[in-house]
Amino acid sequence: MKQIGVGLIGFGTVGAGVVEALQRNGAVLAERTGVLPVLRGIADIDIERDRGVKVDPALLTRDALSVIRNPEVRIVVELVGGTTIAKTFILEALRLGKTVITANKALLAEQGAEILAASAASGADVWFEASVAGGIPIIRVLRDGLVANRITALYGILNGTCNYILTRMEREQMTFDHALKEAQAAGYAEADPGLDIDGYDTAHKAAILASLAYGVRVPMERVFVEGIRGLAKVDIEHARSLGYRVKLLAVIKNERGVVDIRVHPTLVPVEHMLASVMGVFNAVVVDGDVVGQTVYYGRGAGRMPTASAVVSDIAEASRTLAVENRVARPAPYRGGELAYLDIGDVISRYYLRLSLADKPGVLGVVATELGRNNISLASVLQKEPHTSGRAVPVVVLTHPARERDVTTALRALEEMQAIGTKSVRLRIEDLGIEKNA
Ligand code: HSE
Repeated sequence: MKQIGVGLIGFGTVGAGVVEALQRNGAVLAERTGVLPVLRGIADIDIERDRGVKVDPALLTRDALSVIRNPEVRIVVELVGGTTIAKTFILEALRLGKTVITANKALLAEQGAEILAASAASGADVWFEASVAGGIPIIRVLRDGLVANRITALYGILNGTCNYILTRMEREQMTFDHALKEAQAAGYAEADPGLDIDGYDTAHKAAILASLAYGVRVPMERVFVEGIRGLAKVDIEHARSLGYRVKLLAVIKNERGVVDIRVHPTLVPVEHMLASVMGVFNAVVVDGDVVGQTVYYGRGAGRMPTASAVVSDIAEASRTLAVENRVARPAPYRGGELAYLDIGDVISRYYLRLSLADKPGVLGVVATELGRNNISLASVLQKEPHTSGRAVPVVVLTHPARERDVTTALRALEEMQAIGTKSVRLRIEDLGIEKNA
């Protein structure tokens, strides 16, 4: 049996999961691939802590570079995270011609060009299945499973923390702040929860998926991002009564070569499978021009789901390295520019919540202003105010309208003091489900 040496940089939650999975299923893996991956070194700043897995103490070191430079190590697994020291380790491994496996979505999304250039220069592969949607093998889906397709659309619930918060807000009628505290207490949120709740973690993952889908690197600056911070539970309730759930969704579409890529809280029809994705689970919908719609579901984070993705990369990389005279596979995506749709030009259906003065003719003014901006109403829901004389909440669902027109109309309405106050705008994605609304 051929053996391939593996070096692990970062022995945290996922690193320990990788060791556990290799110990548990290494033999099965070898049977399936014909190559046995063997751990040759594990580096971490803390080599004392008990991680719940037994390892030969001789493998442990605080010196990551010694593992990377060990001639017996042909695959370097980077699980340090962040965009500084992790990058140094990856570039050094690639410079030495070693295959790199990483879960580092922030690094790939923000500085992927440099990583891929180093990979191209040395001819060493970079594998990153664990960077998006944890245990769901979505990278493999785009690179292999759906290789026969042009990807027309992709929708993803890619952040478990946000989905957990939204689920708690809906099920327990919790406020956003309360649900965030629970997510932190349960250990789901990133150390800086802003990455999760302001949508950037999802945007990193969306940029990686779009790059794979279209073969060209999609820079983060091209992703329109709006997070779930400050989302009111009343909007989750109204959405639900109208047949929708609110999800933080990555939306990627390609219409005639123009890419629309955004992350925002989105109303999805309860009939669609995405609406049933609750708690920390992730899901991805991929529409291909040959296959039609496909859906992938599973745990997007955590020790063992992420380890599953890392170990699948170890298996794939081992198999690839074991093949003599192999034809090198082209890079998963290249540099260059795509054409992008400006957020103002996005055509979508909208959920609008307006707080209107409870006076005759007010709704008429709203309808007129929306109509003047080419926004057609699909349904209107007016709730009785709790106390007379107070503002009344009115929820409007629109037919497809242009984002820029919606912005103009809402601004005009907000400026009319007699009409009302602040408004809330959420976008709707029907995901191929026809609604009568
Ligand atoms: N903070 C991320 C999440 C971790 O909640 O999904 C996985 O990338």
